[in-house]
Amino acid sequence: MLVSATEMLQKARAGKYAVGQFNINNLEWTKAILLTAQELNSPVILGVSEGAGKYMTGFGTVAAMVKAMDESLGITVPVALHLDHGSYEGCYKCIKAGFTSIMFDGSHFPIDENVAKTTELVNVAHGLGLSIEAEVGSIGGEEDGVVGAGECADPNECKMIADLGVDFLAAGIGNIHGKYPENWAGLSFETLAAVNEKVGDMPLVLHGGTGIPDDMIAKAISLGVAKINVNTECQLSFQEATRAYIEAGKDQQGKGFDPRKLLAPGFEAIKAKVKEKMELFGSVNKA
Ligand code: 13P
Repeated sequence: MLVSATEMLQKARAGKYAVGQFNINNLEWTKAILLTAQELNSPVILGVSEGAGKYMTGFGTVAAMVKAMDESLGITVPVALHLDHGSYEGCYKCIKAGFTSIMFDGSHFPIDENVAKTTELVNVAHGLGLSIEAEVGSIGGEEDGVVGAGECADPNECKMIADLGVDFLAAGIGNIHGKYPENWAGLSFETLAAVNEKVGDMPLVLHGGTGIPDDMIAKAISLGVAKINVNTECQLSFQEATRAYIEAGKDQQGKGFDPRKLLAPGFEAIKAKVKEKMELFGSVNKA
């Protein structure tokens, strides 16, 4: 059931668990995530980066596929179709395409410009029943061309953006997209606690979910994180399972070259990874 992410994240914040945002790349990814959410009776957010949207030939194609698949699979758990790290133009494209949620990443603009653009997009999104996420500080590393230095958010700026009426807020707390380096200092819980204190009961978003140790995930949830984004870990699971299939020569046995057979181990690996994360985040049976 396609819905905005507002209600599912408010419930998560109040119930002290988090809803996973899993990024999609194609039909296999989408189907694996939707089926797992349904099997576990968990709410879920499908994240679409601008790069992935372009790869799938545009946000219109993505929205049409997700809507049709949600119906044909009989998905009854709440599913939000969300733009990840959206540009100003990208937000409007997704609104037009029928997404149910957007993220406006104005973190690289001066704060005044971030405020002006976020205010406008909050009004447009809410007028149409979509939820909206904003970002303060920046997420380190690179995701589909979006590069961030990884500076921690200023709690006062978080309050300013939260007061514009966004539904959930991503605050940089030392998190990084992709694998964490050996010398990573860990999440800054000091920053997270200060942000949480400033923004009341606003659901907070933890980007860069790949590779964050379980105890840090639990602590982040206890400090107001209600949405956790995972992308790279699903990609690595898919890659490992696909490599194993080919290295075992299975693509050369019988009809093992059939794309539906070739992609099946990767598909199952994404399902297993999403299940593991939903259990860790506590969203099972919370639909
Ligand atoms: P990872 O790729 O590090 O899991 O980050 C995902 C993310 O934050 C999407 O916005």
